[in-house]
Amino acid sequence: MSLYLPEQVECKGENFKVFISKEQIDARLSLMGEQIDKEYEGKRPIFIGILNGSYIFLADLMRNVSIPCEVDFMKLSSYGDEKVSSGNVTELKHIDAKLKDRHVILIEDIVDTGLSMKYMIERMKSYSPASVKVVTLLHKKDATVHEVQVDYVGFEIPNKFVLGYGLDYAQEGRNLAQIYVLDD
Ligand code: IMP
Repeated sequence: MSLYLPEQVECKGENFKVFISKEQIDARLSLMGEQIDKEYEGKRPIFIGILNGSYIFLADLMRNVSIPCEVDFMKLSSYGDEKVSSGNVTELKHIDAKLKDRHVILIEDIVDTGLSMKYMIERMKSYSPASVKVVTLLHKKDATVHEVQVDYVGFEIPNKFVLGYGLDYAQEGRNLAQIYVLDD
């Protein structure tokens, strides 16, 4: 079966249109993979995906990386079912891997207010890793409330609600193969 690539979609009664196409995502991930290959040669990094939103991005990004690497996941919740952050971070799944002296690469679908990433960076540092870097597919710079160092960004985007490629609206739309924006 081929990928579902509509120009417009409806989700929970709201209309969304294509914002970042499959081709654009693929091209960007290829470059990000090359960059990680170069910077982490000989370091065997561990990718920590932040669930749920990062799972598709992480899976595709890892397949663009050729050096030996590992993966684990942590699950956070800050949005609930709304289009704006609740302002609280709840840890729903912990990491199993030992991170002491490891090169940790945090993988996020989107950095919005920065709240989740600020929490994650502090959490990672408590394990005494060799290094911690942040990779995000999307960055809404204008929405920043909590300043965090973001090391690799797929796409800088305006402060608008987006959907697809792992990102949800009330848990729907994660399966869309492209990134869509609210059509208002
Ligand atoms: P932050 O803690 O405010 O930076 O928000 C990070 C989390 O909020 C992300 O991991 C997403 O799950 C969610 N989020 C932020 N913006 C959007 C959006 O535009 N669409 C879907 N989810 C979003």
